[in-house]
Amino acid sequence: MTVDGRDVGAFRRFYEVKFGVRREELEFPAGMGLEEARVFMAREHAEVRADGLGLVDGDTWLGVAWLDWWLVGNTDTVDVELAVAPAYRRRGVATKLLDAAIERARADGRRIVSGTNVAGDPVTGESPGTAFAAARGFVKKHAELHQVAELPLNDVVEQPVDGYEIVQWREHTPDEWLEQFVELLSGMSEDVPTGERTSEAVRWTPELVRDAEDRRIAQGRFTYTTAAVHTASGELAAYTQMGGTPETPDRLNQYDTYVRRTHRGNRLGVAVKGPNLRALQAGVSLPAVLHTWNAPENAPMIAVNTKLGFRPVAQRTMWERTLL
Ligand SMILES: CC(C)(COP(=O)(O)OP(=O)(O)OC[C@H]1O[C@@H](n2cnc3c(N)ncnc32)[C@H](O)[C@@H]1OP(=O)(O)O)[C@@H](O)C(=O)NCCC(=O)NCCS
Repeated sequence: MTVDGRDVGAFRRFYEVKFGVRREELEFPAGMGLEEARVFMAREHAEVRADGLGLVDGDTWLGVAWLDWWLVGNTDTVDVELAVAPAYRRRGVATKLLDAAIERARADGRRIVSGTNVAGDPVTGESPGTAFAAARGFVKKHAELHQVAELPLNDVVEQPVDGYEIVQWREHTPDEWLEQFVELLSGMSEDVPTGERTSEAVRWTPELVRDAEDRRIAQGRFTYTTAAVHTASGELAAYTQMGGTPETPDRLNQYDTYVRRTHRGNRLGVAVKGPNLRALQAGVSLPAVLHTWNAPENAPMIAVNTKLGFRPVAQRTMWERTLL
């Protein structure tokens, strides 16, 4: 059956399988809360549309698939996340869901099915999900180390950089920074390591930023942003974002961290992350786990995180299958 987020009862059953599997697979499960995810699926967004599939036997939900259909960048790709309740594995449930997703992808003119295995071993990256992906013709394209920090951290590193000032904001990017923030978001999309993935950079616009902000608010999310401004030129040089939702107070996320190309090598990563972490810790209920993911080749970012108090807990791998 298909799920669209508007039928609250059906979405709850769908979510129970999806998040139940994450809880089962990961010591530190990450992901959207029930309402956060439902609103994401139910609403129209500028750059992505999401829906789901459930394989249901009578009143029992055996497995589910979450589908993200990109509308800006990667418009020939559909992302599929499969989850099968542990009691019903190795009976072809995921294969049936994947076949249904592929049929829909073809009907929508998509060329690539991609999927992420979130629960890989921190060193080898392997999991039942990677065995399934390999068995069903997917090719591994990229990997990211999943690190967590258990908050509160008592000594948050504070390392200001001469010549730069810190500015902070919450749910809305101040108008005075919007144009420059759009440039940094586009730069992030171009520069973030994506390995061998088929990945088209997103050209951000002020409208897309406002749409994403409105969506986060509708989902019940809060966001903390810290940016560094180059005092002499007034240029926005770096930013970092963290956030979560009161629905799942124990789970917080480190989102993007980006330093403009012309300002790299000045330790701006730590300079923005430290104050952002301090603001986050002051504003949320603790204890909580802060999650982040980075490509192993992004060693400087992993080093910054380790310095701040993060440690590795899993590896997620991204897979693709090209439809013939
Ligand atoms: C990965 C997952 C979705 C597979 O679900 P499933 O319904 O058991 O998969 P299927 O029965 O369709 O398996 C198809 C084939 O994949 C391979 N496979 C699946 N699970 C495997 C495992 N644990 N070990 C080795 N091979 C496995 C086998 O080749 C299997 O065929 P076989 O049973 O005839 O040997 C399920 O284990 C799961 O929910 N894992 C956690 C979430 C996850 O990793 N999702 C994938 C992210 S997209």
